Amino acid sequence: MAIKVAIIYYSATGTTYRLARAAEQGASEAGADVRFRKVRELAPEEAIASNQGWAAHRLESQHVPEASLDDLAWADAVIFGTPTRYGLPTAQLKQFLDTTGPLWVKGALVNKICSAFTSSGTAHGGQETTIVNLNTTFYHWGAIIVAPGYADPIQFKAGNPYGASFTSNNGALKPDETALASARFQGKRVAELAAQFVAGRLAPMVSP
Ligand SMILES: Cc1cc2nc3c(=O)[nH]c(=O)nc-3n(C[C@H](O)[C@H](O)[C@H](O)COP(=O)(O)O)c2cc1C
Repeated sequence: MAIKVAIIYYSATGTTYRLARAAEQGASEAGADVRFRKVRELAPEEAIASNQGWAAHRLESQHVPEASLDDLAWADAVIFGTPTRYGLPTAQLKQFLDTTGPLWVKGALVNKICSAFTSSGTAHGGQETTIVNLNTTFYHWGAIIVAPGYADPIQFKAGNPYGASFTSNNGALKPDETALASARFQGKRVAELAAQFVAGRLAPMVSP
């Protein structure tokens, strides 16, 4: 049976969306069954309309289904993407995470494989802190955090062992091939490790 991977992200101007598509590709190529989901937009329409890039991406992503708790319950592994907001994940993604109480209370998030990626406007604008802050939630879930580390040569080029990331100059630049390859690798790595974990869980215990 294929391993189940959910990609759940927020993106205003499309940078994180493109990284999410690359992570989706990596997980799919590793044989996973992938659900690609955006979280609900919370910003007022006036704010979106006042930013050309934001309005254009809203249109571009209008057919992406919104994430639900069922996607989390279904998934063996979840890869989350968010732009940085003052070094933290976006309110939109956080709001989705804040709806997960009903799963958490049942222990349904325990042993999920979780991983995160991000984008920022500037090079030292908080990519690592955004991922680390997002990961804090996964500790509370009892999830297993899988970072890309330097587990593939692309990571030495991409340079962020916490998760795929891209410096977008506030949405003006689209992720380059290095960032996309890093996100593909992250998707592949998460799917492969999740498959090994699930296979191990299903295997009969062997007494010494
Ligand atoms: C309210 C707000 C806060 C932001 N804070 C930061 C920040 O702390 N550091 C940074 O480098 N970029 C910051 N940015 C820029 C975005 O993180 C960046 O443009 C990102 O690549 C956008 O991703 P997206 O295209 O997926 O929406 C901020 C943007 C907004 C709107």
